[in-house]
Amino acid sequence: MPTRLLTTVEEARDLSRSWRASGRNVVLVPTMGDLHEGHLSLVRAGLDVGDVVVSIFVNPMQFAPGEDFESYPRRLEADRARLEEVGAAAIFAPSVEEIYPPGETTRVEVRQLSAPLCGQHREGHFLGVTTVCTKLFVGCEPDVAIFGQKDAQQCLVLWRLVRDLRLPVDLVFSPTIREKDGLAMSSRNRYLEGEQRDRAVTLARALGRGRQLLESGERDVATIEREMRSLLAAGADRPDYVELRRVPDLERLDLAEGRVLLAAAAYVGRARLIDNLCLEVGEAVREVPLLDAHTLQAVRARHAV
Ligand code: PAF
Repeated sequence: MPTRLLTTVEEARDLSRSWRASGRNVVLVPTMGDLHEGHLSLVRAGLDVGDVVVSIFVNPMQFAPGEDFESYPRRLEADRARLEEVGAAAIFAPSVEEIYPPGETTRVEVRQLSAPLCGQHREGHFLGVTTVCTKLFVGCEPDVAIFGQKDAQQCLVLWRLVRDLRLPVDLVFSPTIREKDGLAMSSRNRYLEGEQRDRAVTLARALGRGRQLLESGERDVATIEREMRSLLAAGADRPDYVELRRVPDLERLDLAEGRVLLAAAAYVGRARLIDNLCLEVGEAVREVPLLDAHTLQAVRARHAV
């Protein structure tokens, strides 16, 4: 079936209501386009739950001044071909005016969770994310929305948003898809030139070092962060942060215990890359989903698929 292209909120809402009226779950996969295997894995997960609409919108509000809004890759035709192959039923690709009508002034802000990590380095970023995602949820009325766990802080911020506003959408956080050497897939990997591609894997290595330390019994967060930081500094051009934080509130810890997030962000060349590992730290250390209630399996069970 050809993938339908929708450009207005009214069209997206009509389609969503018609799917639901015929007993199908509506699944939204929000993206900014330039789709890679990581995005397609979200679509495949979505097809396990219902009919999938992929939004493609490069959201100006979530880019800080001087960031790559203008140069962010826009490839609607190539994206459409890939989505057709995978089986997404529709693309919602609105204009900037459709999402931000002239004269609009409404913002949706999640406090606290938006403040640390990327929030400290990208002014206004999460305000842009939470505002646009609220508009997408209200506009497309999905039963389920799927996000990649690579953006772990974004996932937690959106989890808080949905709970606080009691929005009737169930969130799935899907595992990070990696290249063979461990580099997390990202549209910004396109910016890496020559030897930068090899150095980009430093983020995953720094997080892996943190995990090794935890596995060998180290619990002192300052020690773990110091080691991760020195690895990151050796490979990246400009590290923004590499930290260990508690899940789900992203508070700081002195000693690592329970569910924790190792998270890193750094520039390699002009690419700002992020990565993370979510671990359960007890007597043993194991990789776990960000939130157990928001895996694909948990959401499938709630939606009687
Ligand atoms: O993760 C992204 O691609 C964006 O932040 C999102 C969720 C599509 C909002 O613009």
